[in-house]
Amino acid sequence: MRVTVLNGPNLNLLGTREPEIYGTTTLADLEAMVRQEAATLGASIRFVQTNHEGTLVDEIQQLPSTADGLILNAGAYAHSSLAIRDALLAVKTPFVEVHLTDVTKREEARRRLVFADLAIELITGRGAEGYRLALQALVRRLRGR
Ligand code: DQA
Repeated sequence: MRVTVLNGPNLNLLGTREPEIYGTTTLADLEAMVRQEAATLGASIRFVQTNHEGTLVDEIQQLPSTADGLILNAGAYAHSSLAIRDALLAVKTPFVEVHLTDVTKREEARRRLVFADLAIELITGRGAEGYRLALQALVRRLRGR
């Protein structure tokens, strides 16, 4: 089972970026944790971070030939990007949307999620652990349990 983990803008700065909000776990720590869980679950991982909306769209468009499922933290684009919504609708790859912070309890603008309704699950406010939970949920769904 092949899972792509897509991280959007500013998530490369995890660890130093607003640590009072995002904590001190780095993206590399997070990737290691996801890879460890994937090994336990028998999944292979492609882990990508980009600051560019178009690259996120390109990655999503490739999913039908490269992955069975997607874990997506599109960062701030989750609140605005119809281009990402359209790409997700086009490929129909099952995905879990993850946010490290509880976006439902932050500023008004972050409460609007423009593609979360397409996700099989939305996990917010669980920090890095949210990615592990997302992988478990995705694998469960893809294995039909
Ligand atoms: C985030 C929440 C977004 O509002 C923010 O723009 C991010 C990170 C999160 O993981 O909590 O970059 O997606």
